[in-house]
Amino acid sequence: MDFFTTTSAASRRAGGCVIVGVFEKSVLGVGAADIDAASRGLIKRHIKDGDISGRSGTSLLLPAVPGVRSKRVLVVGLGKKSKFGIAQYRLANQTAINLVKGSKVRDVVSFLTLEDVAACSPYYLARYAVETAGNCFYSFSEMKSGKKPRSPLIKKIGFAISKRGDAAKTMLGAEHAQAIVEGMSIARDLGNLPPNVCTPSYLARAAQKVARQQKSVTTKVMGEAEIKRLGMHSFLSVTGGTTEPAKLIVMQYRGAGKQKPVVLVGKGITFDAGGISLKPGPGMDEMKFDMCGAASVIGTMSTVAQLKLPINLNVVVPTCENLPSGTATRPGDIVTSMSGKTIEVLNTDAEGRLILCDALTYARRFKPEVLIDVATLTGACVIALGHHRTAVMSKHDKLANEITDAGVAADDQAWRLPLAVEYAKQLRSNFADFANVGGREGGAITAGCFLSKFTEGMNWAHLDIAGTAWRSGGKKGSTGRPVPMLTEFLLKRAGALP
Ligand code: BES
Ligand code: MN
Ligand code: ZN
Repeated sequence: MDFFTTTSAASRRAGGCVIVGVFEKSVLGVGAADIDAASRGLIKRHIKDGDISGRSGTSLLLPAVPGVRSKRVLVVGLGKKSKFGIAQYRLANQTAINLVKGSKVRDVVSFLTLEDVAACSPYYLARYAVETAGNCFYSFSEMKSGKKPRSPLIKKIGFAISKRGDAAKTMLGAEHAQAIVEGMSIARDLGNLPPNVCTPSYLARAAQKVARQQKSVTTKVMGEAEIKRLGMHSFLSVTGGTTEPAKLIVMQYRGAGKQKPVVLVGKGITFDAGGISLKPGPGMDEMKFDMCGAASVIGTMSTVAQLKLPINLNVVVPTCENLPSGTATRPGDIVTSMSGKTIEVLNTDAEGRLILCDALTYARRFKPEVLIDVATLTGACVIALGHHRTAVMSKHDKLANEITDAGVAADDQAWRLPLAVEYAKQLRSNFADFANVGGREGGAITAGCFLSKFTEGMNWAHLDIAGTAWRSGGKKGSTGRPVPMLTEFLLKRAGALP
């Protein structure tokens, strides 16, 4: 996809299609007002005739508008002018792209970037638009037999700007968004693939593929012998029930010489049946998404490398299956983690923390400036925050704020939960250093407390993406979150934002 900017008026711009917006109550957007003037009131007439209402999600495609150079004018509804924010802006972009997606149009220019959207800068308007377009173009048909959908004909997207000085920032936003879209699409594909295809070995090959495509990335994959040598018995206890080999994936990107790295750790359970603490049947297929943390950090790695950010980044992914069998870990088993701490496994379905604790201990060797783990860790998180926000837990206010701020800017939001000592008491065990579960109450937080026992002295945060990594129901599928938030966090640290 190519991007460009233009200072032309909507009516003066030649090409396949210009996208303009109208608000409710016959209020014309900037582009629509210009088209209306050039066409002697055509837009207003269509409003009067009831062809366009201005409601969000509605649209009208007008071919050959007199007085207008573009072959088509696509008018989209923007909703109430007083309520026009990022969500409405994204919906308008989505409506427009979905409409031209199936058509013969090869190039479009959006004039929606001229609207005032919650005081967003031209950089973010371009970013949201390209990210929204990327989501519209995404499809997953790898596992369907028969004809694959054609790749979209649109090759060029232009953005209207009000002054030349906005051109560079708009282009930068588009470039960043394009890299984010590619990272998200890596994450989404891995999430959507079935668990008999996306195994730990497949995930390892996907990480190696990123290293092949991005010369600045190296990937190392360790097998069970190496994992054992490292003393990761907590991690190994989870893979006991399966014949599929576990892997430890370590990726490295060097963009800033000797600087301390940011380390991202992703939960890579390629299928979570619960182990001996077997999950109930309904909806169990969705536990193929239990590697979305891993997928999102691998995707983010690809985005960062593509943008050549001046930072150092490491990614650590422990990956295995959690299945029941005669060789599986029993509830009551006690395992010794890489840190030396012993864990009583009271519930084998609380397996994410068991693989993450060893990966977090392993991450110490990189002396991280920041350590963040990303995991579809608890059903309790979905109960607490629903599907809208990722949970962030950290004892470091500055880091927690940096992450939630990045979520706001990237429009991929997170909400903080308290990692307080009172909750940690729920993990007491009569037999080992602590148990792997702390009861139903505050389940997302006690999971965070468990991980905090392995990250003492580190500038660490935990992201629970159980509610945000995928959608259920008719639109079931991986979302690619939180790649935008993580990338925003890293762009900010790299000083790469305008
Ligand atoms: N992968 C699940 C968490 C999950 C469940 C995410 C449902 C999204 C939807 C995790 O491994 C798990 O099973 N957690 C248990 C923890 C409990 C046993 C303390 C849970 O949430 O039920
Ligand atoms: Mn589980
Ligand atoms: Zn799980």
